[in-house]
Amino acid sequence: MLTNGLVVDLQQKNMKIALIGYGKMGRAIEDIATKVGHQVVLTIDDPDFDAETLKKADVAIEFTTPQSAVSNIKKCADAGIPIVVGTTAWYNDYNDACDYVLSKNSGLFTATNFSIGVNLFWRITEMAAKLINDYDEYDAFIDEVHHTQKLDAPSGTAITTAEKVLANFGRKNNWVHHENGIGSSTNELELSVRSFREENVPGTHTVSFKSDIDTIEITHTAHSRKGFASGALRAAEFMTGKSGIYTMKDLLNE
Ligand SMILES: NC(=O)c1ccc[n+]([C@@H]2O[C@H](COP(=O)([O-])OP(=O)(O)OC[C@H]3O[C@@H](n4cnc5c(N)ncnc54)[C@H](O)[C@@H]3O)[C@@H](O)[C@H]2O)c1
Repeated sequence: MLTNGLVVDLQQKNMKIALIGYGKMGRAIEDIATKVGHQVVLTIDDPDFDAETLKKADVAIEFTTPQSAVSNIKKCADAGIPIVVGTTAWYNDYNDACDYVLSKNSGLFTATNFSIGVNLFWRITEMAAKLINDYDEYDAFIDEVHHTQKLDAPSGTAITTAEKVLANFGRKNNWVHHENGIGSSTNELELSVRSFREENVPGTHTVSFKSDIDTIEITHTAHSRKGFASGALRAAEFMTGKSGIYTMKDLLNE
C-alpha cells in the first residue's frame, strides 16, 4: 500500500539495523525504519570502523561511496551479517565481492535502484524496446538527471536501463556516455546515455525512441528518496538471517 509516496507495508519485525553511510540515503532509511518499528543500532559515517561493532546488528544497509562499498561488504562478511548495498559505480568489483561473501557464508543484496517504480520502469522499457525493435525508423536514447552532489555519472540506474535496452533493441551493441549532455554519438550502433546535473533532483530517467516524425518517451521521475529508502528496507527484511547473493529479481519474485 502506498500512502503519500511512502511504502507502509514493510513487515514490522523489529530488525536491528547497522546503517553504513549516514548521508542523504542513510538518513532517509533511518526515518522510515524507526517509523515502522525497526531499530537502528549503529550509524557509521567514517571509513575507519571496526567490523566487530557490526555484530550487534541483524543486517547492514550500505549507502556510501564507490570507493568504500567493497571494503564495507567485506567487513560485514567478516562480521557474519548480511549486507544490502545501494552504493553505485563499484560494480567492476562485483564478482570479487560475491566470492568473498560466499567464502564467509554470508549474504549480499545489491540493486542499482531499490525503488519499485524504477523496477517497473525497467520492465516497461524492456517490453517497449522489444516492440519498437521491429520498426527500423526508430532510434533509441537515454537521459538521466540527478542532483549536483552525485559522484558518479552516468547513474547506476541509467547503466542498468542501457543494459536492458541493449538486450532488447538489436540495432545497438554498446552504450556511450555523454557527460553534461554534451556531444552525441555519430555511430548508429551506439546507444547514447546523456547525464545532466541540476540542483535538488532525486533522480529522473528517460528512454526515448525517436523517428523523423515522432518520439515515444518512457520517464521515471523520483519525487523524493522515500522509494529508494523503503525498497532498501524491504531488501534488509528479506536478507535477515540469509546467506548468498541476491538482487531485486529475488525480492520482486521476477
Ligand atoms: N541503489 C539506490 O536505489 C540508490 C538510491 C540513491 C542513491 N544511491 C547511491 O548511494 C550512494 C550514497 O548516496 P547518498 O545520496 O546517501 O550520498 P551522501 O554523500 O549523501 O552520503 C554518503 C555518506 O557516506 C559516508 N561515507 C563515505 N565513505 C564511507 C565509509 N567508508 N564508511 C562509512 N561511511 C562512509 C559519507 O561521509 C556520507 O555521509 C551513492 O553511490 C548513490 O549513487 C543508490
